Amino acid sequence: MRIIAIANQKGGCGKTTTAINLSATLAKSNRTVLLIDMDPQGHSTLGFNIRPEEIGLSVYHVLKEGVFLDDVVLNTGTQNVRIAPSNIILSAIEQEIAGASEKEKKLHNAISMSKKIYDYIIIDCPPNLGILSINALRAAEEVIIPLDVSFFSMHGLGKLLETIEILNRRSGHRLETYILPTMFDRRSRFAREIIEEVKTHFKGVIFNTPIRNCTKLRESVSFGRAVTDYAPNSIGNWDYTGVVEELILQEDPVREARPIAVLSSSIIKNPDRAIQPGFTDNGFLFVYKDPKAAEVKIAGDFNEWMPDKGVMSVRSEDGTWKKIINIKPGSYQYKFCIDGEWKEDPNNPNIVCNKYGSYNSLVVID
Ligand SMILES: Nc1ncnc2c1ncn2[C@@H]1O[C@H](COP(=O)(O)OP(=O)(O)O)[C@@H](O)[C@H]1O
Ligand SMILES: [Mg+2]
Repeated sequence: MRIIAIANQKGGCGKTTTAINLSATLAKSNRTVLLIDMDPQGHSTLGFNIRPEEIGLSVYHVLKEGVFLDDVVLNTGTQNVRIAPSNIILSAIEQEIAGASEKEKKLHNAISMSKKIYDYIIIDCPPNLGILSINALRAAEEVIIPLDVSFFSMHGLGKLLETIEILNRRSGHRLETYILPTMFDRRSRFAREIIEEVKTHFKGVIFNTPIRNCTKLRESVSFGRAVTDYAPNSIGNWDYTGVVEELILQEDPVREARPIAVLSSSIIKNPDRAIQPGFTDNGFLFVYKDPKAAEVKIAGDFNEWMPDKGVMSVRSEDGTWKKIINIKPGSYQYKFCIDGEWKEDPNNPNIVCNKYGSYNSLVVID
């Protein structure tokens, strides 16, 4: 799962247009997407034809009241795109959570507790660097900064990059930063110069596909539709398709590749069939028994190798740990983490070599 924030404290530079159209275009490439609308103006919500004033639960309830993210998510008219909607109530959040503990990590925590796995989470940010944008940047692993190159918009970019740098240092995780030129006019020397200027000063990635000025993009948002659907033959659709191709090229090949060799484990298969991984009514079940273990967690491809992320965990009296996860069909490598030590699943004979020279357990779910 990739978590990408679309941020820039400048209004009108194309954040929402990018959030909506990247989501829809990724979905066209068979990626499942959750779009989180972190802007109280609710433009992403509106852009998928959902009236912000008519929604019930929203991102506000997730951040303020600890409602599960999964419980506020709505379907959009676009297959494979779901949205966590927002409306004006969200504007009160800055004061309301001012004294809360971990106020910058609320979105991160909510995403970690989500039981649903998406290929992409796209977060549309408001036009300021307040608590909502900070939450988005803390939750994300990557940030796309849309940069309006039709006039001198570099002012403010330094401040945003500095904020990202401070957050990187504070949280210890590196936010990959990309710049996406928007409102680009090929004939304008000024726009080309701005892109060259950014290339000189900015060490990160600049998308090769700038988003050109396109009236159809403007129209599609106002009709509550993504451009893939409203105007598939427009330059707006072609440009966002180009950006998605670049994003897909960056996807971790290890994540996509099927394991090369499935070895038979030296560990003897547990004769008790009930203890082997398998489906239950609540999801896919993994079991590990160790009466002496104080803490058993599970991590794998299904939860970005973040121990117990998205996992329902139950320990029985006899020291049997049951881990239930919602997973889609596919092949997954995983390991248990027992009091901080990584181990293969003793109940699963299928293992594969990993890049660290040890083994991961493997399940193939179909
Ligand atoms: N590439 C583009 N070509 C033409 N109009 C655009 C383009 N990108 C965005 N717009 C328009 O510019 C305005 C601001 O864009 P928006 O995505 O809402 O910016 P932000 O979310 O950063 O405030 C909207 O009216 C939108 O339709
Ligand atoms: Mg916006």
